[in-house]
Amino acid sequence: MATAVRLSGITKQFGSLKANDGVSLTIESGTIHALVGENGAGKSTLSNIIYGLLRPDSGTMEIDGKARSFSSTREAIDEGIGMVHQHFMLVPTLSVTENIILGKEESRFVLPGKRLGTQISKLAGQHGLEIDPNALVSSLSVGQQQRVEIFKLLYRKSNILILDEPTAVLSPPETERLFATLRSLVAEGKTILLITHKLDEVLTVSNAVSVMRKGKLVGTVQTAATSKEELARMMVGRDVLLRTDNPEQAPEQAVLDIEKLGYVSPQGIEKLRGLSLTVHAGEIYGIAGVEGNGQSELLSLLWGTFDRDGKTDGSIKIGGKPTLGLSPAEIAGLGVSMIPEDRLKSAIVAEYGIAENLILGRHREQAFLRGIGFDRQAVRRNAAAMTERYDIRSSTPGANPPIGSLSGGNQQKVVVAREMERPGLKLLVLAQPTRGVDIGAIEQIHKRIIDARQKGLAILLISSELEELIALSSRIGCLYKGAIRREFSEAEVRKGREHESGFEQEIGLHIT
Ligand SMILES: Nc1ncnc2c1ncn2[C@@H]1O[C@H](COP(=O)(O)OP(=O)(O)OP(=O)(O)O)[C@@H](O)[C@H]1O
Ligand SMILES: [Mg+2]
Repeated sequence: MATAVRLSGITKQFGSLKANDGVSLTIESGTIHALVGENGAGKSTLSNIIYGLLRPDSGTMEIDGKARSFSSTREAIDEGIGMVHQHFMLVPTLSVTENIILGKEESRFVLPGKRLGTQISKLAGQHGLEIDPNALVSSLSVGQQQRVEIFKLLYRKSNILILDEPTAVLSPPETERLFATLRSLVAEGKTILLITHKLDEVLTVSNAVSVMRKGKLVGTVQTAATSKEELARMMVGRDVLLRTDNPEQAPEQAVLDIEKLGYVSPQGIEKLRGLSLTVHAGEIYGIAGVEGNGQSELLSLLWGTFDRDGKTDGSIKIGGKPTLGLSPAEIAGLGVSMIPEDRLKSAIVAEYGIAENLILGRHREQAFLRGIGFDRQAVRRNAAAMTERYDIRSSTPGANPPIGSLSGGNQQKVVVAREMERPGLKLLVLAQPTRGVDIGAIEQIHKRIIDARQKGLAILLISSELEELIALSSRIGCLYKGAIRREFSEAEVRKGREHESGFEQEIGLHIT
């Protein structure tokens, strides 16, 4: 079999940290090769090196049997290498077509017209990727944006596709569609390097798996000859509990009461229609659904960030108080915390340090103030405590590096820590809380969510991971086209937990 990529002794250092430490790895042509490892293990760094975004300090690389060293992504792209980044790199103010041809314009005198739109629709149809070529990227859901990113590589005729956590943002049916696309690409002779934290997916779709830990390659195994447990052990270096312990608890008074909530966007599109649900103290209400069925709108109405030119209907009450129309600060003042779905856009400031990001939006808390300014020491102490408690790892432990230099999963841990530790909390709204987080850290975050519930918090959990919803939720509502189409009671969820795969299928019927 021909070799698409051969890496030998790749090393890349950031400060004193070896993000990649002598990594040697071979990827066969025409295969799906998975790359797994804990947050911060060095997966994105390694892919960025193959893609010419980063230059290794030492080591060599062969592409299709020829020695290569890229000094820019342009050179890598010309060699047929394409990458979809962990954090998308689309231009929100441009259309889908414009984004797809960006950097690959046929001629700078020809503007993207109808012909290109048709060509794109056709190519999209072939690979089962539904895309409206004229839509503005800013109007697309995260899942749709990702389809555009993959599409961009197809348009560029990339032969080696690197996908950095492509399924983190997808619901199960979308993931299956993506996998079908990947299989058809491999059948055409393309090679795929797939980075993911979801070991079930690795086992379903890949041919071989490489595992990284702390910058080093632990090993490469054939998928057919390995198991979830073995991969988890290779990644973390210990046995991992793959199930969450979820003791029974009687719910108390209602904290969040949503009644017949409706929302019509300024463009006149009905996004929510008569959505009703109640979340009690001591209860986790899970919302299952394919992205784009009203999740984003529900979140923005709950948090007070929705577009006021749209039209609302019905009511939201938190602790009995109507909140529709209040500002985010006023809503937070009622004891509400939220982890938004897109942390990069709305939950962190990349250039600020970890310590500052840990108090974003919480900077008026007495504990962080001294006189008219900040109590720097208190801010640092908080950072040290949270770093320890949530296992936030950076390349310079003890220092306060910009959060943008942390690996994706570690950025997520910062947001989770900040929002879950807000004092006086009554209601926690969690959207995709473990997106991009490794299995060891998921185990910890799940424990914290259950702890919070046992302390009497009301929790609304929106997740595209059915496994996560089933493991954590007291009740589950299926969101479809802006309303709860079916609600599973506590007894049903409890029973479903015992027959997980059957229950996943049953939920699936109500969300598609
Ligand atoms: N530009 C940078 N400056 C400093 N440190 C960096 C930089 N980029 C990455 N690192 C560090 O290198 C290490 C490896 O990061 P990388 O992003 O490759 O991890 P990863 O395996 O992709 O993790 P995740 O699963 O969380 O995405 C991390 O400790 C990270 O903080
Ligand atoms: Mg990464």
